[in-house]
Amino acid sequence: MANDTSALPEDPFSPPPDSALWRRDFLLGAATAAYQIEGAVNEDGRLPSIWDTFSATPGKVLAGDTGAVACDHYHRWERDLDMLSALNVDAYRLSIAWPRVMDEAGRPNPKGLDFYKRLLGRLKEKGLKTFVTLYHWDLPQHLEDRGGWLNRDIVYRFADYADLMSRELAGQVDAWATLNEPWCSAYLGYGNGHHAPGLADGRFATQAMHHLLLAHGSALPVILDPLLKGAYPDDLFELWPGTEPLVLDGDMQTIAAPLDFLGINYYFRTNVMSDGAHGFIDVPLPDVERTQMGWEVYPDGLRDLLIGFNRTYTNLPPVYITENGMASDDKVIDGRVDDPQRIAFLKRHLEAVDAALKAGVDIRGYFVWSLMDNFEWAFGYERRFGVVHVDYGTQKRTFKRSAELIATFLAGRNAPS
Ligand code: FCB
Repeated sequence: MANDTSALPEDPFSPPPDSALWRRDFLLGAATAAYQIEGAVNEDGRLPSIWDTFSATPGKVLAGDTGAVACDHYHRWERDLDMLSALNVDAYRLSIAWPRVMDEAGRPNPKGLDFYKRLLGRLKEKGLKTFVTLYHWDLPQHLEDRGGWLNRDIVYRFADYADLMSRELAGQVDAWATLNEPWCSAYLGYGNGHHAPGLADGRFATQAMHHLLLAHGSALPVILDPLLKGAYPDDLFELWPGTEPLVLDGDMQTIAAPLDFLGINYYFRTNVMSDGAHGFIDVPLPDVERTQMGWEVYPDGLRDLLIGFNRTYTNLPPVYITENGMASDDKVIDGRVDDPQRIAFLKRHLEAVDAALKAGVDIRGYFVWSLMDNFEWAFGYERRFGVVHVDYGTQKRTFKRSAELIATFLAGRNAPS
């Protein structure tokens, strides 16, 4: 059954006629991140990042995989952008590798910058909107050696980096995002050590969180024209009592600087129960559909999250779903890759977005994670999230059935009327 698409309707992506997804100004895009696809970690003056160090440490990443080659996108970017064109998407979300564009003294690295200038230039020529994330987890190792996100100095380093990028790439970027999933950087990177740099201490996690948010707030005035409440939730520090970060006067105002848009990444829900104290324990639900990651497929969670945010935060800016997708054990058979679970997953999550739109949430776009299979952090290359399959031996790209259907839907939607 797993690879049998014969039972699927002709065009399972085709939304009902009243769906907002037909609107041409609703952006449908694909997303990637630098460390997960670029490879070329020692080229053109790129410095080591915390993920180079972490993935080279035995036992940290499944099968000992690293991002040293990844999808070799640094060399194959032109063909990869042609692939994006063939997918007919409106927009591309990528991230910049901080270690590629600045040297240890904070000076620009022209070769690294040129790579992104060429890439963004080509995207513009192709008419794609560009969504650029400044920090998708690949901190320069030399900054980690000085304390990384635990050292308040990083806030100023990040603001300098954001400032440099906004000047160097002026006019080439449609939407800037500061941080991808700062919760993961803080709690997986410094709280439980599952991600780089691999530290595990509750006090570290909250201090890193505060510096990440402060870095975000400090970067906003330099990259955007100008979080939602300007205060931490009361129960945030109960899980690890005594872990309140050092917050200086003015920090919360900096953090709460107005946003032009909010990016939401959604994958699954977690079912928990209280541990009787301040924490909680996971209680996996039996008999639910799961993906290759073991994550529950739960599209209603996306709808409820969007509607809930809209209700909770009266100042909610326009929202983009900046990541949504799933991993499956996809294989090329006779030149084709059938991924029926992903097709159903994307369709159901797009319906959830449509439901939230109809309920009045201002959602402007949706990005599938990911354009192509790539280095899935601590899970290495085993987990395949792409709508395009990558053969890591040959670097051959093959559209999965989901990619074909996305391309067909968008060709129809965007055809001149
Ligand atoms: C998100 C990350 C992204 C990718 C997906 C599966 O948390 O932002 O890079 O790994 O998970």
